[in-house]
Amino acid sequence: MTRWNLFGVLTVIVTLFALTAYAIAPNGVESLQYAIRATARTSFVLFLAVFLATSFARLVPSALTRALVRERRYIGLSFAASQLLHAIALIIYIRIAPEAFWVGRTPATNIPGSIGYLMILLLSITSFATPARLIGPANWKKLHLTGVWILAVIFAGSFLTRVHHHAAYLVPGMMMVVAMLLRMGERFEG
Ligand code: HEM
Repeated sequence: MTRWNLFGVLTVIVTLFALTAYAIAPNGVESLQYAIRATARTSFVLFLAVFLATSFARLVPSALTRALVRERRYIGLSFAASQLLHAIALIIYIRIAPEAFWVGRTPATNIPGSIGYLMILLLSITSFATPARLIGPANWKKLHLTGVWILAVIFAGSFLTRVHHHAAYLVPGMMMVVAMLLRMGERFEG
């Protein structure tokens, strides 16, 4: 499979997942909520794979974990595609049911997510050779490290702030926290 084929296959899977979630919901507004949640979850799986690729390769060296490291750019771009679907579902949701969207939210609660989208945009653009060359390897490294950590914090925050709705949110929230500790541990190991 070529690298862009991998991106294509993952994006088709993510899209089918979002459409299925949309289709099984009981009504129009809930369809969008289901699709928002589904795309947040596919994004999380893809993000974790990229975030932990090098840790997995160090902890469990194998052909699979080496492939994960090698192909992480394309998995990262499928994460961006999944987040694009999260944004599309959100925009439709805000237009169709603004009163449901704004329950418990203020413009300030949208700030972390908006910063997250800015990061996803910058990381995606600079994953291409010319923009990467323009900013230089040192800035590239700083940007990508900052970007993935901002996204990790947004994921942890999004899940952990929903624990009072449903205790099951503790599972992905803690998965993100453990992943962050694993990455931090690697930095200290050198
Ligand atoms: C301004 C940008 C964003 C807005 C307005 C937004 C809005 C929302 C809303 C309304 C939900 C809840 C849907 C529901 O339960 O009915 C949601 C869920 C979620 N979003 Fe976003 N989001 C944004 C960006 C992001 C970003 C950048 C990330 C990840 C880096 C993210 C990750 C999540 C997660 C993890 C959930 C929880 C999904 C679940 O229930 O399992 N969101 N978002």
